[in-house]
Amino acid sequence: MTRPPVLGVDGAVKHYDGGGVVRALDGVSFELHAGELLGIMGPSGSGKSTLLLIAGLLEPPTAGEVRIGGQRVSWPGADLDGLREVRRRRIGFVFQKPNLIPFLNATENVALALEIDDVPPGPARRHAGGLLRALGLAHRASSLPARLSGGEQQRVAVARALANDPPLILADEPTAALDSVRGRQVIALFRRIADERGAGIAVVTHDPRALDLFDRTIELSDGKLVGASTGIGGLVLQRGLSEGDVERR
Ligand SMILES: Nc1ncnc2c1ncn2[C@@H]1O[C@H](COP(=O)(O)OP(=O)(O)OP(=O)(O)O)[C@@H](O)[C@H]1O
Ligand SMILES: [Mg+2]
Repeated sequence: MTRPPVLGVDGAVKHYDGGGVVRALDGVSFELHAGELLGIMGPSGSGKSTLLLIAGLLEPPTAGEVRIGGQRVSWPGADLDGLREVRRRRIGFVFQKPNLIPFLNATENVALALEIDDVPPGPARRHAGGLLRALGLAHRASSLPARLSGGEQQRVAVARALANDPPLILADEPTAALDSVRGRQVIALFRRIADERGAGIAVVTHDPRALDLFDRTIELSDGKLVGASTGIGGLVLQRGLSEGDVERR
């Protein structure tokens, strides 16, 4: 029997009330499998963050549903408060803004994610330190967020999302504030975590420079899926959806 996808989004629609109705998402479906690194692309306002919030069980869809590990967990009117445990144990989320706790240093911000999960402070800090090192932040481990650059804060937020080894990782433009070398380092770490731990990882990105590390990308425009690409041997081929549906490896 094949395993269900880590994440399934089916016909997700999201309307916001803002004077008139904003159709932020207009019927988007995709699946994310264990070990897969998926890029989500599209212009500003196309619905990328909205899609991630719905997939991460932070917003219910107006129509459609979300499945985590094959189980239907979110639908219109679903009680997302009751899903706190699912989010905490199974989803690592990197927000478009880093949202670090200002009075905790970098290591403490990352370690907190583990301590909430009953990991003792010593091991939690050691694990946090290792993640920060992997993200090139060893020298900033004791710095408070206010002393970190935007890109450094974003990398701490990435380390925090990875800390308790979730099977699903959703990251909203984690490389937006980074130069190409640092940006690639972050995507390369996601690639390694997908390969070595089998996490399913979806990353919103504008940066075409690290695309060779992704398995495939999907593209949004005006809340709709308008394109998909599939990575073949490090080469990413752009294909229109009209030529066939979103292709999987
Ligand atoms: N809470 C909200 N209330 C009303 N409208 C919203 C809300 N959140 C998003 N929108 C609207 O929904 C649409 C999609 O927004 P979203 O943030 O998902 O886009 P995005 O692709 O992430 O853009 P960006 O690349 O700028 O981050 C936009 O028109 C936006 O203005
Ligand atoms: Mg966004």
